[in-house]
Amino acid sequence: MKIDVAESQIYSGIPERTVVIIFGASGDLTRRKLMPAFYHLSREGLLPQKMRIIGLGRRILLEDEFISHMKNRVIQYCTHKMEDRFWLPIADNMFALRADFKEDSTFETLISEFDRLEKEWGGPINKLFYLATSPSHFEIVLQKMIQFRLHEEIAPNWVRVIVEKPFGLDLQSSDSLNRLLLESFHEDQIFRIDHFLGKEAVQNILIFRMSNLLFQPVWNREFIDHIQISIAETVGVEGRVDFFEQTGAIRDMIQSHILQILAFLMMEHPSSLDPEIIRDEKVILLRAVRPFSKSSIQENVIRAQYSEGVVNSQLVPAYRDEEGVKKESLVETYAAIKLFVDNYRWRGVPIYLRTGKRMGARKTEIIIQLKEIDSTSMPTVLGKQRPIPNTIRIEIQPRAGVELTIGWKPPGLLTEVESTSLTLGAKAQLKEPKAYERLLLDVMRGDSTLFIRYDEIREMWKIVDPIIKYWEKENKELKAKNETLPSYPAGTQGPRIAKAFIERDNRSWNKL
Ligand SMILES: NC(=O)c1ccc[n+]([C@@H]2O[C@H](COP(=O)([O-])OP(=O)(O)OC[C@H]3O[C@@H](n4cnc5c(N)ncnc54)[C@H](OP(=O)(O)O)[C@@H]3O)[C@@H](O)[C@H]2O)c1
Repeated sequence: MKIDVAESQIYSGIPERTVVIIFGASGDLTRRKLMPAFYHLSREGLLPQKMRIIGLGRRILLEDEFISHMKNRVIQYCTHKMEDRFWLPIADNMFALRADFKEDSTFETLISEFDRLEKEWGGPINKLFYLATSPSHFEIVLQKMIQFRLHEEIAPNWVRVIVEKPFGLDLQSSDSLNRLLLESFHEDQIFRIDHFLGKEAVQNILIFRMSNLLFQPVWNREFIDHIQISIAETVGVEGRVDFFEQTGAIRDMIQSHILQILAFLMMEHPSSLDPEIIRDEKVILLRAVRPFSKSSIQENVIRAQYSEGVVNSQLVPAYRDEEGVKKESLVETYAAIKLFVDNYRWRGVPIYLRTGKRMGARKTEIIIQLKEIDSTSMPTVLGKQRPIPNTIRIEIQPRAGVELTIGWKPPGLLTEVESTSLTLGAKAQLKEPKAYERLLLDVMRGDSTLFIRYDEIREMWKIVDPIIKYWEKENKELKAKNETLPSYPAGTQGPRIAKAFIERDNRSWNKL
């Protein structure tokens, strides 16, 4: 059944007179994701009628140069062709400001620009502040905004703030960032982003589970042997060394992206699609993850760093030889975790999580491996053949889709069982909006469904915090002994220890 809703109905509530202020406009996120997203929205006619984008950064020199650089990045990263009729409404309304957000003068300039716009546009304006900078800068930017009273709203106009991930660097810093926000902002002004939630395939996990009776009865420990969630990248640090040296793979990928996927995949069915009810269910699931102790970390968590290797036919350096990385860096570029969810539905089902940079393939996928059938149920057919368990593979990127592996008899005179797959999703590819496009639109419309509530963030930190603390301690010992992390050649499936890690349970990673 397809419900046809006019686009104008879906996208009602696009505001008028809106200023978007990007702290970190000279950074990677702005050029690779935000500008292409604004361009897509312009193509769809979904930008506010009066809109100004103010981009801040210390490296911005000339405004014209900055705008033409942004245009080139849109050409590079956009799936649609560049057309001036859609680009000019953005370019003509962009203000590039060479500024340091530690300086008062930056905020004084912003206030005078807001005053000027209110006069020019003939009324109060909405302000959307985007913290597109490293998490270590969030507090200083927020403190300055509060000092200059930029959080204050004058109804009916709004002030909203988008906080990028990772939200804090551990449980403690995340709590203190949240306290700072809530001292001055109302909860409905705060949009904590994890762009994975903007991805069509992540949103589809819940719909896939809820709308197919075929899967509902098997979605539990009775039928599921184990689950794998993998995020593999072929890229390295791509000029984001300072950021990655602070975060590493566990904060960058597991703390939010992978645990959000886990929550959507394993939570109980919500009683409605109301955002608060979905978030409540996610929190209940995250709370049921078995906490890590020192011994369970030693047994169930591994990390590694890439060494030199070949990715996409190109020789790439080891992580420690990347420009800007310290020769003695102990930051993990790969991490794998085995965890358990201790509730009635999932008790005893191992969940394997892994993420890595400079891997042999770029892929984000979920594997739901069902248990083997009892071979005595069809002895004459199977003979000595091992039963082939069903697998549900949900691919999130690069191609959103679902693949179901089933056993059947191949045509021919022999009676044997062969594994074959049913796939769906190719059609969705064509219509899929980009994550940031969807999320920016939602913030402007005030819809927080695809943003994360703080109690979810807190539960996610509570899962990974003991691992981070354990590694910090272990790093001191490694440094004292002049030892390094285990390694894996760039362009491969990951470290050898990861293979052994899952094989000891008589299981294997799905090939990426
Ligand atoms: N890049 C991505 O694909 C991506 C994806 C998802 C989430 N994110 C998140 O987005 C955020 C930004 O990531 P990014 O990759 O864009 O980082 P980045 O490339 O390191 O950019 C950081 C930005 O902050 C600015 N900045 C730093 N100190 C400043 C100061 N004192 N005054 C003014 N500007 C300052 C930098 O500008 P100047 O150096 O010119 O001052 C730069 O524009 C992070 O939280 C990250 O986790 C990024």
